[in-house]
Amino acid sequence: MDPNFTKNRQVAGEHAGHAVWGPVNPPQLLGIHGTYVAVDFDICVADGACIEACPVNVYEWFETPGHPASEKKADPAREADCIFCLACETVCPPMAIKITKRS
Ligand code: F3S
Ligand code: F3S
Ligand code: ZN
Repeated sequence: MDPNFTKNRQVAGEHAGHAVWGPVNPPQLLGIHGTYVAVDFDICVADGACIEACPVNVYEWFETPGHPASEKKADPAREADCIFCLACETVCPPMAIKITKRS
Protein backbone atom coordinates (compact mmCIF):
# COMPACT_ATOMS: atom_id res chain seq x y z
CA MET A 1 0.00 0.00 0.00
CA ASP A 2 0.97 3.63 -0.39
CA PRO A 3 3.10 4.63 2.66
CA ASN A 4 2.27 8.28 1.99
CA PHE A 5 -1.48 7.76 2.03
CA THR A 6 -2.04 10.53 4.62
CA LYS A 7 -0.65 12.99 2.09
CA ASN A 8 -2.10 11.43 -1.05
CA ARG A 9 -5.60 10.70 0.25
CA GLN A 10 -8.29 12.44 2.26
CA VAL A 11 -10.34 11.22 5.18
CA ALA A 12 -13.67 10.12 3.74
CA GLY A 13 -15.33 9.05 6.96
CA GLU A 14 -15.04 7.06 10.14
CA HIS A 15 -15.54 3.42 11.06
CA ALA A 16 -15.50 1.87 14.53
CA GLY A 17 -13.51 4.78 15.95
CA HIS A 18 -10.85 5.02 13.23
CA ALA A 19 -10.51 7.11 10.08
CA VAL A 20 -11.31 5.83 6.59
CA TRP A 21 -9.11 7.31 3.88
CA GLY A 22 -10.81 7.57 0.48
CA PRO A 23 -11.67 7.29 -2.25
CA VAL A 24 -14.52 5.05 -1.19
CA ASN A 25 -17.26 3.59 -3.37
CA PRO A 26 -18.65 0.43 -1.76
CA PRO A 27 -18.81 -2.43 -2.27
CA GLN A 28 -15.97 -2.35 -4.84
CA LEU A 29 -13.79 0.45 -3.44
CA LEU A 30 -13.32 0.53 0.34
CA GLY A 31 -10.28 2.73 0.97
CA ILE A 32 -7.79 2.51 3.84
CA HIS A 33 -9.03 1.85 7.39
CA GLY A 34 -7.01 3.33 10.25
CA THR A 35 -4.17 5.83 10.42
CA TYR A 36 -1.41 4.47 12.73
CA VAL A 37 -2.55 0.94 11.98
CA ALA A 38 -3.61 1.36 8.37
CA VAL A 39 -5.09 -1.48 6.32
CA ASP A 40 -5.75 -0.95 2.62
CA PHE A 41 -9.03 -2.81 2.26
CA ASP A 42 -8.67 -2.74 -1.51
CA ILE A 43 -5.41 -4.74 -1.27
CA CYS A 44 -6.31 -7.06 1.66
CA VAL A 45 -7.13 -10.59 0.48
CA ALA A 46 -8.28 -11.87 3.91
CA ASP A 47 -5.09 -13.84 4.51
CA GLY A 48 -5.54 -13.48 8.28
CA ALA A 49 -1.85 -13.64 9.25
CA CYS A 50 -2.06 -10.15 10.72
CA ILE A 51 -4.82 -11.18 13.11
CA GLU A 52 -2.80 -14.18 14.32
CA ALA A 53 0.42 -12.17 14.61
CA CYS A 54 -0.87 -9.21 16.64
CA PRO A 55 0.05 -9.70 20.32
CA VAL A 56 -2.52 -7.18 21.55
CA ASN A 57 -5.53 -8.16 19.44
CA VAL A 58 -5.91 -4.95 17.45
CA TYR A 59 -7.75 -6.58 14.55
CA GLU A 60 -11.23 -7.87 14.01
CA TRP A 61 -12.75 -9.41 10.88
CA PHE A 62 -15.14 -7.13 9.03
CA GLU A 63 -17.44 -8.54 6.38
CA THR A 64 -17.14 -6.89 2.96
CA PRO A 65 -19.46 -8.78 0.60
CA GLY A 66 -19.03 -7.84 -3.05
CA HIS A 67 -15.43 -6.64 -2.81
CA PRO A 68 -13.33 -8.04 -5.69
CA ALA A 69 -10.25 -8.95 -3.56
CA SER A 70 -12.01 -10.70 -0.62
CA GLU A 71 -15.31 -10.74 1.23
CA LYS A 72 -13.84 -9.91 4.62
CA LYS A 73 -11.04 -7.61 5.82
CA ALA A 74 -8.82 -7.23 8.88
CA ASP A 75 -10.23 -4.12 10.50
CA PRO A 76 -7.99 -2.19 12.98
CA ALA A 77 -10.83 -2.10 15.49
CA ARG A 78 -8.56 -1.44 18.48
CA GLU A 79 -6.01 0.78 16.74
CA ALA A 80 -5.19 2.62 19.99
CA ASP A 81 -3.89 -0.63 21.55
CA CYS A 82 -1.10 -1.05 18.95
CA ILE A 83 2.41 -1.35 20.42
CA PHE A 84 4.08 -0.82 17.00
CA CYS A 85 5.84 -4.19 16.92
CA LEU A 86 5.39 -4.32 13.11
CA ALA A 87 4.47 -8.02 13.18
CA CYS A 88 1.29 -7.52 11.17
CA GLU A 89 2.95 -5.37 8.53
CA THR A 90 5.71 -7.97 8.10
CA VAL A 91 3.48 -11.02 7.68
CA CYS A 92 0.85 -9.64 5.31
CA PRO A 93 1.44 -11.33 1.92
CA PRO A 94 0.05 -8.55 -0.32
CA MET A 95 1.55 -5.80 1.91
CA ALA A 96 -1.82 -4.26 2.69
CA ILE A 97 -0.72 -2.87 6.09
CA LYS A 98 1.29 0.22 7.03
CA ILE A 99 2.21 0.87 10.66
CA THR A 100 3.29 4.39 11.61
CA LYS A 101 4.54 5.07 15.09
CA ARG A 102 2.65 7.85 16.82
CA SER A 103 4.91 10.85 17.37
FE1 F3S B 1 -0.55 -5.39 16.45
FE2 F3S B 1 2.04 -5.05 16.30
FE3 F3S B 1 0.50 -4.65 14.22
S1 F3S B 1 0.77 -4.49 17.99
S2 F3S B 1 -1.41 -3.95 15.06
S3 F3S B 1 0.86 -6.58 15.22
S4 F3S B 1 2.26 -3.45 14.80
FE1 F3S C 1 -5.56 -8.85 4.93
FE2 F3S C 1 -2.97 -8.97 4.98
FE3 F3S C 1 -4.28 -9.29 7.19
S1 F3S C 1 -4.26 -9.78 3.42
S2 F3S C 1 -6.22 -10.16 6.59
S3 F3S C 1 -4.23 -7.43 5.95
S4 F3S C 1 -2.47 -10.42 6.57
ZN1 ZN D 1 -12.64 -0.07 9.84
